[in-house]
Amino acid sequence: MTSPSAPPADPTAAIDRALAELREAFLPRFRAATTEQALRDENAKILGKKGELTAILKLLGQAPPAGRKAIGEKVNALKQEVESGFEGCLRDLRGKEREAELSAPPFDLTLPGRVPSGVGHKHPISIVREEVVAVFRQLGFAVHDGPDVEHEANNFTLLGFPPDHPATDMQDSFWTESGHILRTHTSNIQIRAMKGQKPPMAFIAPGTVYRRDDDATHSPMFHQIEAFLVDRRVTLAHLKGVLAEFAERLYGPGTPVRLRPSYFPFVEPGAEVDIGCVFCRQSDGTRAGCNLCKHTGFIEILGCGMIHPVVLENCGIDPEEWSGFALGMGLERIAMLRYGIPNIRLMFDNDPRFLSQF
Ligand code: PHE
Repeated sequence: MTSPSAPPADPTAAIDRALAELREAFLPRFRAATTEQALRDENAKILGKKGELTAILKLLGQAPPAGRKAIGEKVNALKQEVESGFEGCLRDLRGKEREAELSAPPFDLTLPGRVPSGVGHKHPISIVREEVVAVFRQLGFAVHDGPDVEHEANNFTLLGFPPDHPATDMQDSFWTESGHILRTHTSNIQIRAMKGQKPPMAFIAPGTVYRRDDDATHSPMFHQIEAFLVDRRVTLAHLKGVLAEFAERLYGPGTPVRLRPSYFPFVEPGAEVDIGCVFCRQSDGTRAGCNLCKHTGFIEILGCGMIHPVVLENCGIDPEEWSGFALGMGLERIAMLRYGIPNIRLMFDNDPRFLSQF
């Protein structure tokens, strides 16, 4: 029994024993670790703040002052042994890992790479535009560009629209404060091309157009492609040939094409073009068609015609020598027909669940 007032027993012998035990034990413990993390954990159990060696060091305060220096030196010596033992085992462990890497079967460079997912999709309008552009390029048409904000004359007057034509009305078109117009169609490119270039010429012009229209099948901003050709002795037969080729390439061989007389101020004669309904394929009139072609077997895809002689004259081209045709189509309509998209809104919402389907 030690009374409270008695000095604590000299812990020197106990410290010596503990140090000796730890000296025996630490290396085998380190060597048993098979991963770097396990080795570090083991090291922390000995040298960490709450580690075994630290605990031994804390007993030092109870030793007689005269012997403390010697004990401190022993503790420090063991600490250094433990540290260098740890470093050695770490080096061994890393060496083994490297060895395993090097002797593993070699990396197969012919394996396919990881395919990135979720990087986005082409918009159906872009897909269709690229297809249409490709068809016309193969037919020898160049690609032209033009401004969205246009002089009224290039959009209307020089194309033969009378000043009181309803399309020129503020209700139907967007006008800027400076008296310019957001082009209502890509036919403005016809005027720009003919004013800037002598025939023969053949080009297409994709672009954004604007009208005050907003419902399930109309949007105030939409996309068109204009195709345009001027040369000597161009006839309606050339136009029909191009249309047939276009319909075949876009909607498959044998797709029927039909021209219905129609009116546009800048063409004479003018026509609307229908193709056999791509949904029911019942343009032979023998069956009832479907809802999408309103049971006619045909679907309208574009407007076209022979360039009006007055339009040629407006641009300084002699209609006695030159003639040509033009056609214009809405890309939203072409894409809706191609993919069976019921509502034009879907094209402009840019919902990834919609876009990822194309
Ligand atoms: N520009 C006309 C439209 O937007 C389409 C068209 C182009 C018609 C060329 C005939 C010739 O409706």
